[in-house]
Amino acid sequence: MPEAALSLDNVSCVFADRDGKGEYVAVKDATLTVAPGEFVSVVGPTGCGKSTLLNVGAGLLAPSSGSVKVFGKPLQGINHRAGYMFQGEALFPWRSALSNVMAGLEFEGKPKAESEALAREWMKRVGLGALKTDTLIRCQVACASVPCWHKP
Ligand SMILES: Nc1ncnc2c1ncn2[C@@H]1O[C@H](COP(=O)(O)OP(=O)(O)OP(=O)(O)O)[C@@H](O)[C@H]1O
Ligand SMILES: [Mg+2]
Repeated sequence: MPEAALSLDNVSCVFADRDGKGEYVAVKDATLTVAPGEFVSVVGPTGCGKSTLLNVGAGLLAPSSGSVKVFGKPLQGINHRAGYMFQGEALFPWRSALSNVMAGLEFEGKPKAESEALAREWMKRVGLGALKTDTLIRCQVACASVPCWHKP
C-alpha cells in the first residue's frame, strides 16, 4: 500500500472560547488518512470543524494534540505538498489574475520568469489561458458596479 499523502492521527484543536475565559473544542480526536490521488470530502454541519481540519492538513494551524504526517513525515509548518483553496474569496484585488496566480511562487522566492511561466500554464489548465491577465479583476469590478449604474 502506498504511503498516505496525508494522515491525521487523533487530532484535536482547542481554541479560547468567545469570552476568552474558557476553552472551545472545535475538533476532537479526528483520524483521517488520504492516499495519493484519492478524492476525499469532509462533510458536516456548519461549525463542526471542517475548515479547522483543512487548516491543520495545510499546515496553517498546528493541532493542540495529535499528529499530522505528509507522505510519512511529520508536518512542521506549511504543507508544501498541498494546494489550498480558501472557503471565502482570497484574491488580492489590486493584482491582476496572473499576478494573483503567481503570488504563492513569488512569496516562496521563485525567479519571476519561472513563476510567470508556471502561472500561465496553470491558468491555461483551468481554462483561463485565453483571457487577458486582468479580465477577472475587471469582471469583479463590473459585477460590483452594474447595480449602481442600472436605472429601472
Ligand atoms: N481561531 C479560532 N478561534 C476560536 N474559535 C475558532 C477559531 N477557528 C474556528 N473556531 C471555531 O471552531 C468551530 C469550527 O469552525 P470551522 O470554521 O472549522 O467550521 P466549519 O465546519 O468549517 O464551518 P462552515 O461549514 O461554516 O465553514 C466554530 O465554532 C468556530 O467558531
Ligand atoms: Mg468552513
